[in-house]
Amino acid sequence: MCIIYLIAILFSLTAEQCSSKLIEDSSQSFTERMHAGKTSFVYFGNHVNPTIKLFMEQLEMSADALEDYGISVVKVNCSKDAIPNYCTGEELMTKAYLFRGSEVLRSFDIDTVFDVNAIVSHVLFSVLFNEVRYVHTPAELLRVESTAKQNSDIVVGHIPVLGLPEHRALMETAFVYGTKYQFVQTTGSLVLKHMGVVDPSSSQARLWFLHCKGISRQSDPCPSTPMRKPLNTINIHTFLQLMEAPLVTEEVVDPSEVDVVHMHLGVPVLYLFSQPQTEHLDRATAQTLAMQLRGEVGVVLIHRNSPNVETPLKYNAAYRLPQEDVKYFTLKSTDDVVKLFKEELLQDHKLEEEEEDEEHWSDPDILDDEVSESVYRDRDLMLDLESVVELTSDTFQKTVTQDEITVVLFYFKWDAVCMAFIQSYIEVADALEGMNGVHLAAVNCGEYTDICSDQNVTSFPTVLIYQPMSAAQLYRGMLGTKSLHRFILLSLVSSPTHLSSSAEVMSFLEGDLYSKHVYLTPVRVLGLFSSTHDTGVTSFEEAARILRGETILGLFAHKDAEQWMEGLSVNLPALLVSRGPGVPHEVYSLPSSSPTDLASLIQRVKLDRFAELTVENLPWYLELGKPLLLLFIGKEDSTESTEALAEIKQPLSAGQLDFFLPCWIHLGRTPVGRSILEKYLGFVPPLPALVMSRLKTGGEVFLFPPERLLMAKNILQWIQDVENGQEQPAGKSRELVNRGV
Ligand SMILES: *[C@@H]1O[C@H](CO)[C@@H](O)[C@H](O)[C@H]1NC(C)=O
Ligand SMILES: *[C@@H]1O[C@H](CO)[C@@H](O)[C@H](O)[C@H]1NC(C)=O
Repeated sequence: MCIIYLIAILFSLTAEQCSSKLIEDSSQSFTERMHAGKTSFVYFGNHVNPTIKLFMEQLEMSADALEDYGISVVKVNCSKDAIPNYCTGEELMTKAYLFRGSEVLRSFDIDTVFDVNAIVSHVLFSVLFNEVRYVHTPAELLRVESTAKQNSDIVVGHIPVLGLPEHRALMETAFVYGTKYQFVQTTGSLVLKHMGVVDPSSSQARLWFLHCKGISRQSDPCPSTPMRKPLNTINIHTFLQLMEAPLVTEEVVDPSEVDVVHMHLGVPVLYLFSQPQTEHLDRATAQTLAMQLRGEVGVVLIHRNSPNVETPLKYNAAYRLPQEDVKYFTLKSTDDVVKLFKEELLQDHKLEEEEEDEEHWSDPDILDDEVSESVYRDRDLMLDLESVVELTSDTFQKTVTQDEITVVLFYFKWDAVCMAFIQSYIEVADALEGMNGVHLAAVNCGEYTDICSDQNVTSFPTVLIYQPMSAAQLYRGMLGTKSLHRFILLSLVSSPTHLSSSAEVMSFLEGDLYSKHVYLTPVRVLGLFSSTHDTGVTSFEEAARILRGETILGLFAHKDAEQWMEGLSVNLPALLVSRGPGVPHEVYSLPSSSPTDLASLIQRVKLDRFAELTVENLPWYLELGKPLLLLFIGKEDSTESTEALAEIKQPLSAGQLDFFLPCWIHLGRTPVGRSILEKYLGFVPPLPALVMSRLKTGGEVFLFPPERLLMAKNILQWIQDVENGQEQPAGKSRELVNRGV
């Protein structure tokens, strides 16, 4: 887990470096700001310690997020501009203020606004003070309800811990829908009990919709519907749409012909058949059921007397689960139906969703710089998808089966990350325009939920690559222009490339074949088999298909393959890795295993054994789960750096570092490395600096003593000292890592 959080931090750091909307004010610009009357969130700072540094990084990120709400994020350095009243002369200043004009709306201790989610949620909550009501007790909630009756519906969010992503999701929703609904926020357990929650001590965030608008008599309570999915912006948005849908839809066609919004939102639909004689009763039954299943199941009443309804009389009900066909049944009592949905049909779906959430939890964290840079920026822009075809339920299937390669982006208009990624996506489309056989398309999953669920798309944005005659391939890379562009170009290379002679093998390994792809990746991986009848060949071909777009793979299944093994201690079948012309090939024997295992083996051997870490390749390396031996080298390519690299290579090639993942970061090319180093140690040591980080076991970080010479034998000695507990850790990666959670 820690590893992933580290990645998250890495990327958030990168983001912050690339796009700072944080404004630094002088006395003069601060005075002007006070007069302009706008809303701003201001930190007055003096000295900087590690905690304040961390806060300022989060402040920078929040500047991006809050810009879209018209709120400026500002820093004033009190040691340069001593603003009266706010620059109090303390060394470490731990307060931030929210201003509207020159009036302080609220001040916050920086412990409260500890990260970007906390800053955004608290600031929006304060700004929306008049729109979002804060209630502690059921009585207060009832007062809000009574003013809302006949006027508007209410959205109640129970947020046990303020400042977490759920809180931010609620506040961002309130910002969008604040004029339509009355928003209420509560934290205590009293209101939970009032809402009928069985275990009010649970720390889960919850949301209810109170249907007050249609209530005309003060003595009638507002019916409430709980949202049963986790609180995030997409789920809340979907839930609110469901709340807007009619309670019961009446139709005069067969179930399979009915089109209701629930189907597009991934919600099951229940169909009830009505006879002319019992119409009133049937409608009442439908209403009762619809109330009980609201938010989870859509209810449709079908009038049988229409000639278009051909359902046999023995059935009086039917249901349809997302992505499935209509199933008919005979309804005995309404209780049975509620039981059927609550205990069987919905249960399955809910569990699935929970698992899905687990699986995809890391996606939103791994934003790369391009995305974070434009998150929120483009929220209100109309999409201009000229070079991208927008697909609908009618065109989707035809498009993905007819072209050579169709790249499809599944997005959600309401999701900021999607909207930001669309910009990169359009850039890729523009770059590929005119290229034969490649088309970029997009599906708006808010509108065509059915396509997205058919394609098993559950996280957004998702990019799938379709080629005729093969399964859709998931793009697993970074959400940036460069990386997607490369993936698409590499997808065009047939995988594996079948080689038929030793001359072709040579041309493949030396990069002459696919020479124009060398700038995409210099690495070539070759599978060698003694004949096409070798049982491993099929597995290898399948693995190559899995890795399409990521690796250039060749296959040489021929009696001459033996020649390539001459003088090597490895027998066929084997894997040969070439890292570019002039670099000695690496050889690995190829076990017989499943295509997926083979694919992950290929991914592993493809990694450089002493790699330069970059933001892009880092996830692959961290996935190996080994302790890191990380060399940080300075911006300039000095002799010290070259020597340090060489000193580590010695024990590495002797196999003495197998337990570790040795790698290096060049602070010039990967500036985020400096922040990592500071977070690890709290300071930046002289460079080059060697650090060991044991993310798995406790997250301790050790620094090779700067006063000792960075030489192979000293390094080995130091590693031994660390293992024997004779070295003190210089820091803990876990602390920094936990802040990011
Ligand atoms: C203020 O400026 C001083 C000197 O330039 C610097 O050391 C300090 O870190 C700055 N403080 C903040 C909060 O930016
Ligand atoms: C979606 O998942 C189901 C169940 O795992 C599978 O049967 C189906 O083929 C998948 N659909 C696509 C388009 O991948």
